[in-house]
Amino acid sequence: MAGYVVVGTQWGDEGKGKIIDVLANKADYVVRFQGGNNAGHTVVVNGEKFVLHLLPSGMLHGNGKCIIGPGVVIDPKVLLQELDTLEAKGAKVDHLFISDRAHIIMPYHVRMDELCEENSGEHKIGTTKRGIGPCYADKINRVGIRAVDLLDMNIFADKLKRGLEAKNLIFTKIYGAEPLSFDTIFEEYKGYADRLKHRIMDSIPEINKALDDGKLVLFEGAQAMMLDINYGTYPYVTSSSPTTGGVTTGAGVSPRKITKGIGVMKAYTTRVGEGPFVTELTDELGEQLRKTGFEYGATTGRPRRCGWLDLVVGKYAVDINGLTDIVITKIDVLSGLDTVKICVAYDIDGKRYTSVPASTEILSRAIPVYEELPGWKEDITQMKNYDELPENCKKYIKRMEEFLGCPISVVSVGPDRTQNIHIREI
Ligand code: GDP
Ligand code: IMO
Ligand code: MG
Repeated sequence: MAGYVVVGTQWGDEGKGKIIDVLANKADYVVRFQGGNNAGHTVVVNGEKFVLHLLPSGMLHGNGKCIIGPGVVIDPKVLLQELDTLEAKGAKVDHLFISDRAHIIMPYHVRMDELCEENSGEHKIGTTKRGIGPCYADKINRVGIRAVDLLDMNIFADKLKRGLEAKNLIFTKIYGAEPLSFDTIFEEYKGYADRLKHRIMDSIPEINKALDDGKLVLFEGAQAMMLDINYGTYPYVTSSSPTTGGVTTGAGVSPRKITKGIGVMKAYTTRVGEGPFVTELTDELGEQLRKTGFEYGATTGRPRRCGWLDLVVGKYAVDINGLTDIVITKIDVLSGLDTVKICVAYDIDGKRYTSVPASTEILSRAIPVYEELPGWKEDITQMKNYDELPENCKKYIKRMEEFLGCPISVVSVGPDRTQNIHIREI
């Protein structure tokens, strides 16, 4: 039995897509369990770049089945566009299936996301405006539409009618915005249902059987620890659980079947959107990291905020996810710096913290406590063995491992699927 979960340990964009693609080579299944097309996962194959938002990043590697699991929210328009794009590039797409329990993002969710953000002034979250929060809100409020409803257009019409009526009241009476049309949405979604229905399935028995039969199932996290609805920098978070715990509710498997928790950790930190970021660099160095690391959102194109590695966040991610392995990514971006810094604690209002406080207001006042390590100058992007790495780069990795108390198994040194240094087998 092998259920491997790959999760982000910071604020997203750690390189999860790349790592899933690498591991997918030997996987029988790759399963998304939360989030939606707020994700942007980049896979680079022979110099060609693919950005996947809803499709699992295992689509391009190996022969495994790819499943969009029950805990995901699906915008069918985006899904079909992604499938069409991959197919046009000659990739195989018939191995993609959708859980019948996954919730469907409707045009009124996207509109609601936009209106909430536009009307929140300085309190806006900086969402991706893909309708993620409003869709999850309807799910929790028990008024959502699920993939299974696309299999019977009478049921779909009834749910759409009720859902849209409620949303149109809010659009017109609260926001003074235009209502959306039932007929337009119904026709559009009927077309999506026709194209998607053969992919809609009950994924739960199949995934559980695969695990019981000793197959390798790879669960692909989107977003990350600090965007988690329960444990992230609330309210500046996403609306799902991107942690290993999210697999049990989002894919329908028992925690006993999860054998590895693999945390992807960028060698520095980035964040897109609003919210506290203790180690943020707003100076030239931050700009340099953005340029060298090409830190622009894979979904919205927004410049990512950049800063030093925060190991308070890292330890929080190790603990909450029960990580068994860490994959460090983008350490090549730090090459060339005289010194590199690691945050090991926060000073807030005269008190030292070694864990992440719940209050966003308190966290916003945190002053990072840094350890400074010597940098390295060498280009490491073509290195294949740990021993080849510059001594100071190894010291950085060792310090991370020692602080986090979790083995570092792979060091990624470039975006391509071949640019990895394997320290231990995952
Ligand atoms: P994800 O959302 O976690 O899948 O990450 P993104 O794809 O949004 O962002 C990661 C970016 O870094 C992408 O452009 C990747 O191609 C790139 N990347 C991944 N690993 C490495 C690495 O080790 N070094 C460098 N230089 N780039 C990397
Ligand atoms: P991947 O999977 C980085 C951020 C948004 C915003 C907050 C809430 O590529 O790592 P949402 O649209 O989810 O309601 O926005 O979460 N966010 C991400 N940031 N990477 C992501 O995904 C993200 N998905 C959402 O920028 O701050
Ligand atoms: Mg991303």
